[in-house]
Amino acid sequence: MRVLICYATTEGQTRKVAEFVADLLKEAGHEPALFDATVADEVEPGRFEAAILTGSVHIGRYQSALVHRIHQWRDALNAMPSAFISVSMAAASDDPHARAEVDELCQKMLQAAGWTPTMTLHAAGAIRFSQYDFFKRLAMRLIARQMGRDDDPHVDHEYTDWDSVRRFVESFLASLRGSRASD
Ligand SMILES: Cc1cc2nc3c(=O)[nH]c(=O)nc-3n(C[C@H](O)[C@H](O)[C@H](O)COP(=O)(O)O)c2cc1C
Repeated sequence: MRVLICYATTEGQTRKVAEFVADLLKEAGHEPALFDATVADEVEPGRFEAAILTGSVHIGRYQSALVHRIHQWRDALNAMPSAFISVSMAAASDDPHARAEVDELCQKMLQAAGWTPTMTLHAAGAIRFSQYDFFKRLAMRLIARQMGRDDDPHVDHEYTDWDSVRRFVESFLASLRGSRASD
């Protein structure tokens, strides 16, 4: 099955998630095509049989390139099995309010864009202090503290639970098999 995978990333973690998803699809015998949302003008989503989009949250927003693609591809996305993976630090939080907040902003973005993915996952991202400038470092330390974390600012931290991403992709693939069987 030809599967469109499109990601937006600011510091690279969501690209890593998208590449991981592409590898899983390949292992399962599918044909994933991976695109960066900022350079996906030539993509014709209607040529694919399923789609997985992913982007990350920065100061309460997803990357505008991702939001733009969702608006642009909405009809095609709604016409096929599709999934959205939201990457954030809130997803790594023990605080249910932080998790509810990121879910709300995710649902609002999807609703405003008019896309109803078949499945959605909140995946924990990473804190890459080594890549941040002074302001990002400050912002991230504040955000991390609001979420009850006090991570060592001298090292990078990856919170992505790769097993949960794998399980999500496996259930998405199982739902595709189910929908094909009932066609
Ligand atoms: C400046 C900055 C702002 C962020 N704002 C939020 C936020 O509002 N909510 C949240 O849950 N995570 C926030 N994060 C965490 C990112 O979502 C997380 O680092 C993610 O892994 C980034 O993905 P990327 O590397 O693909 O850009 C922020 C990170 C940075 C650096």
